[in-house]
Amino acid sequence: MTAKFVLTRKKAENLAGDMLACCFEHDKKKKTLNAYGGMEKTIRTPLIHNDFYGKTGSSLLLYPDSGVKSAVKCSRLLLAGLGLKNPKDKDEARERCRSCGGVIAVAAGKHKVQRLAVILPEVRGLKAEEVLECLVEGLLLGGYRFHKYKKAEKNGDEPVAIREIHIRIPVDVKNLRNGLARGKNAAEAGMQARDMANEPGNGWTPASFAKFGRMLAKRYKLNCTVLEKKDMKAKKMGGLLGVNQGSAEAPKLVILEYRASAKAQTILLVGKGLTFDSGGISLKPGAGMQDMKYDMCGGAAVLSMMQAVGAEEPDVNVIAIVPATDNMPGGSALKPGDIVRHYGGTTSEIINTDAEGRLILADALAYGIENFKPDCVVDLATLTGAVIVGLGHHRTGLLGNNQKLVKRLLAAGKRAGEPLWQLPLDKEYVKQIESDVADIKNTGGPAAGTITAAAYLQTFVGDTPWVHLDIAGTAWNFTKKSYIPKGPSGTGTRTLVELVRSWKKMNP
Ligand code: BES
Ligand code: MN
Ligand code: ZN
Repeated sequence: MTAKFVLTRKKAENLAGDMLACCFEHDKKKKTLNAYGGMEKTIRTPLIHNDFYGKTGSSLLLYPDSGVKSAVKCSRLLLAGLGLKNPKDKDEARERCRSCGGVIAVAAGKHKVQRLAVILPEVRGLKAEEVLECLVEGLLLGGYRFHKYKKAEKNGDEPVAIREIHIRIPVDVKNLRNGLARGKNAAEAGMQARDMANEPGNGWTPASFAKFGRMLAKRYKLNCTVLEKKDMKAKKMGGLLGVNQGSAEAPKLVILEYRASAKAQTILLVGKGLTFDSGGISLKPGAGMQDMKYDMCGGAAVLSMMQAVGAEEPDVNVIAIVPATDNMPGGSALKPGDIVRHYGGTTSEIINTDAEGRLILADALAYGIENFKPDCVVDLATLTGAVIVGLGHHRTGLLGNNQKLVKRLLAAGKRAGEPLWQLPLDKEYVKQIESDVADIKNTGGPAAGTITAAAYLQTFVGDTPWVHLDIAGTAWNFTKKSYIPKGPSGTGTRTLVELVRSWKKMNP
């Protein structure tokens, strides 16, 4: 359960709880010191000794009851660094607030804080509601833990969740409530995606995606449809069926629809929901194979973001599709050399059964575009190891066929603190996936693996404006940040939430 937030106008010295957090901008001259009125004495000493001056990621814990108890009612006082010495732009300022929220959450977790109080800082260039939004995002995302499968420890080491967060605000305006709601919705969607990914392959199956979709449809104004294996056969989805052939687990294709209005534009989101990727007959090496339970992070992002869409009801139609299966080397598994026929008729020669993500995405893209006639498509997938070689764990790879849409995604990712980087998709790369026996083949050789994978997907989107995000490097092991724990990051979820929130009609 996530913490309960209370916005309050109480004076800092009247806030009670287990910890009071104050955020400071990077300020070696300590000009901001006076802003904390009655608490000035308590925080002056560490500032004078330069033990803390607001650097990003830094914090200092004080126990104020030794001497000046009257100034601070909370048993602990945390000074947390906002950084923010000349932020490049608004997005960087937002990221600093998020990061500061994460620092506070980590310290609160360490000291088993149940009642946290935070003074909303003023940040140059950002409205108070935006500071609140990002701080709340950081507080929630930074406090995220997954211990479902761990025995409750008896030695007092068990993690304690924050129950209440009181935030002191300067003025009680409606906008601040909106900021709080936005921060919560985005963070909760991101944490939902992490929860799905943290589940092991035997805990999160294709059926789990279907169950989650149906649950969201009950809770919000969403419609959920699940295509079963027999429906896939009727619709001739040879890619998804082919990848599933070697598995004991039934495939599912989950569709969640949000309808704003008949005249609104439609965004189609497709996420790779590969619940475990063994490689199939082209078996992966054993070392590190356990991480392939994360191969469903694209699907997790697109279904989880629908939770925020359900809560916020934006003015654009959003359809999320997740083709879900695992990729196993069973006796009836797909073999190198096999040819599959996708939804819509295009055939693929299988060179490597480990290039399975594109096979299931092909069906989902073709099906989604034909049936929902979207104005644009965005797909997310942990698609290639090559994107890690190219971009490491700091940026998601982005490729697309429409620069207007590309720009929107680059902007949404930057705003969400999930940076993207565009790779080229010239027609020369398409040559690498030409097949002698089928329309295309499913690998393009060792060169430019991320690009040839995207070139493969492009075959199935036609002229529809489309962007592909390869999140193989960022879905887990993402850049170390205070609000990104070890394990799955939930990357892409908040980028999509931003894309939808800021949607304006687009002419292709
Ligand atoms: N799920 C993997 C991609 C992956 C690799 C994600 C490492 C995260 C970390 C994907 O299905 C895959 O196996 N891709 C192959 C494609 C190749 C056979 C053309 C790859 O990248 O090696
Ligand atoms: Mn694979
Ligand atoms: Zn895979």
